Amino acid sequence: MTQGKKERGTLLKKILITSGPTIEPLDPVRYITNHSSGNMGREIAEQAVNAGYDVSVITGPVNVSYPEGAEIINVLTAREMKEEVDKRAEEYDCIVMTAAVCDFRPEEVALQKIKKEEKHSLELIKNPDILSGIKGNKDIKKIGFALETHNAFENGKKKLEEKGLDIIVINEKTEKNDPFGGGPAPRDYTVIGKKGENEHFEKIEKNKMAQIVVERIGQLL
Ligand code: CTP
Repeated sequence: MTQGKKERGTLLKKILITSGPTIEPLDPVRYITNHSSGNMGREIAEQAVNAGYDVSVITGPVNVSYPEGAEIINVLTAREMKEEVDKRAEEYDCIVMTAAVCDFRPEEVALQKIKKEEKHSLELIKNPDILSGIKGNKDIKKIGFALETHNAFENGKKKLEEKGLDIIVINEKTEKNDPFGGGPAPRDYTVIGKKGENEHFEKIEKNKMAQIVVERIGQLL
């Protein structure tokens, strides 16, 4: 479903943002997902709209309001998100993947509600990697977000290289730094560029981080 589309200019640089979690159904009433709130995606969309970009947001189910002027595409699963990204990548200048894509999905989705029993096993299979699999536009700039609980810098840098990113923004989840949720608490981030150059930001608000990301996009484009 697409909504809230502004008059799209042909000369504006186009930014595609993915946001929120994906959800992966188990049966007609249950699903697995994660804690992503969509707030970072929302903040980046707002900064990008304000900076004059033509912005589309592909979002999983969230309770945030994206800025007026951004085109919003609603999806549920990782595969739906991938389909929407692949369909659009060709015509965008930059993709910012803030979405917390579920890495796994139940291998089988039960057609009827699974009834309770003493024990129930779930077989999960891998979802496709959206960033690595972007087709069509070789020139599209790619920005990833990584949530890490340990070896944040090393793991983030590895993802940057493996997924062919221009920039990765790393969040480290520790007791004091919980990247999830919409709370006002400032958080810590490390931004790594293609040549390994990096900058650490301590205790800054999500909207400030989003502003920095959009400024970096301006330098890339
Ligand atoms: N991502 C993606 N497709 C996936 C999973 C993640 O495009 N199936 C993107 C995320 O949106 C994010 C970046 O890849 O911008 C890093 O996501 P993360 O979950 O940290 O990386 P994973 O490759 O899933 O690694 P991990 O094993 O640490 O979960």
